[in-house]
Amino acid sequence: MEWKLRLKETLGAVEAKKISTPPIYFATLDEHGLPQVRAVQCVGFVGERRSPERETGSEQRVEDPLEHLDPPQASWESALLCFSTDIRSAKCRELARTRLAQFCWWFPSEQRQFRIACETYIIASPESNSHIGTPTSELEALSQCFVHPPAKGTSERFSWDNECGYHFDRLPNIIRGWHVGPPPSAPCDDNTVPFDQLPLSRTSADHDLKLRQAQQNFALIVMKPKSVDFVDMAQQPPTRLLFESGEDDRSSSWRTIPLNP
Ligand SMILES: Cc1cc2nc3c(=O)[nH]c(=O)nc-3n(C[C@H](O)[C@H](O)[C@H](O)COP(=O)(O)O)c2cc1C
Repeated sequence: MEWKLRLKETLGAVEAKKISTPPIYFATLDEHGLPQVRAVQCVGFVGERRSPERETGSEQRVEDPLEHLDPPQASWESALLCFSTDIRSAKCRELARTRLAQFCWWFPSEQRQFRIACETYIIASPESNSHIGTPTSELEALSQCFVHPPAKGTSERFSWDNECGYHFDRLPNIIRGWHVGPPPSAPCDDNTVPFDQLPLSRTSADHDLKLRQAQQNFALIVMKPKSVDFVDMAQQPPTRLLFESGEDDRSSSWRTIPLNP
């Protein structure tokens, strides 16, 4: 898929310069049909396995004694992108109502913009009590069609629960604290602690309870691109390409249309 090649090339160039990966600006529609946009940190392609030093936005990570990360395994191949969030957040309610979304990813260092319209899936963590997650049968079909084992093969079976666990394990402690805190977007009063802190010591009495609460509220948002509007401002003159998926989403059914910038 040409859009994926261009995005990977852009992410690789940013990584090579050792600068932070910019956030995406992710837009949903609210219950009044109004657009709502916010910055979120895209953590890459579903199934992608990175060594800790190659984590997206790694410069923001804090030394975290909770982390005992497994060594990186082989990456799965997919054209699905994802970010993590709190299942109680407004964006999840909005996506549960209207699963179509769009995000803009502008890479200032490369002078490239990707404007990606997508269908979304809410991956609730296995610990979640929420009814907002995409049904398991749908997720099963999604992974069967769109997540492929690494070329060298693996004995592992792709599992959405493992995917959630992989990204939860990589969360900085302060973000785990967000998931333990009060519901996002609810009005706060003087007594509210907006970011509850997880005790850093694993032996602390309420560590397990809070870790479980954080896991319950953690979710992954998976984005399946339907069209990608790509602008390369580094070219003279700037180039613009529209990549559009066919009805059946197969990689061979994508077509490329050059556009006037
Ligand atoms: C640079 C940056 C990165 C962010 N990354 C995330 C993220 O990965 N996930 C997330 O849920 N919120 C992230 N946020 C916070 C969101 O922008 C937003 O304030 C929050 O998720 C609540 O959004 P909502 O009420 O529209 O659901 C980030 C904010 C900034 C400024």
